[in-house]
Amino acid sequence: MTAGKFITLEGVDGAGKSTHIPAIARLLQARGKEVLLTREPGGTPLGEKLRELLLHENMHPETESMLMFAARREHIEQVIRPALARGVYVVSDRFTDASFAYQCGGRGVSTAKIGQLEQWVQGDFQPDLTLLFDVPVAVSTQRLAGARNPDRFEQEGADFFERIRNAYLARAGQFPQRFRVIDSGKPIPEIHYELEEILSIV
Ligand code: TMP
Repeated sequence: MTAGKFITLEGVDGAGKSTHIPAIARLLQARGKEVLLTREPGGTPLGEKLRELLLHENMHPETESMLMFAARREHIEQVIRPALARGVYVVSDRFTDASFAYQCGGRGVSTAKIGQLEQWVQGDFQPDLTLLFDVPVAVSTQRLAGARNPDRFEQEGADFFERIRNAYLARAGQFPQRFRVIDSGKPIPEIHYELEEILSIV
């Protein structure tokens, strides 16, 4: 059996990536792939408990970073690697690029520290494909404005998301072979057409 593929979805809160997850799964399934949808922080029973803390408890940015990677360690071990070994296409709503974008770009943790955690937790393991849903912060914050009970991240201001967006775009520039940047301000059918094209070759 051939190994599966690891596809990650990224973008600032309100970029609209969640809207496209069902279409991404359908497009892969239409090509005969078995698909596992998962998310970070989360994806395992312990990871989901850590997610609750991460989204709702105030903590130091470095504590936040380490808990993100603690959840990730479980996720890789228990869910992602075993599924890939079975030939499954794993689609994760966020992964390590989010730590570089949110903890480094947003919170100011050094990239050297996040790089160390990355090396410790995942070694050379990287996504095969990362879809970055990109939209101007004025648009994403407008989308978030209607959200009820915003979490610790969603409550942040436009500057925070501007830094995150820039950090994501810098990551995409640094790793062009695995990133595809999708203009998430386009009409949904156009985005689906683009996704169909991208996913037809993974
Ligand atoms: P979600 O809203 O996409 O489910 O993600 C939950 C929040 O967690 C989101 O605001 C981004 C944040 N996050 C980080 O800050 N660092 C990370 O490494 C991950 C995976 C998520």
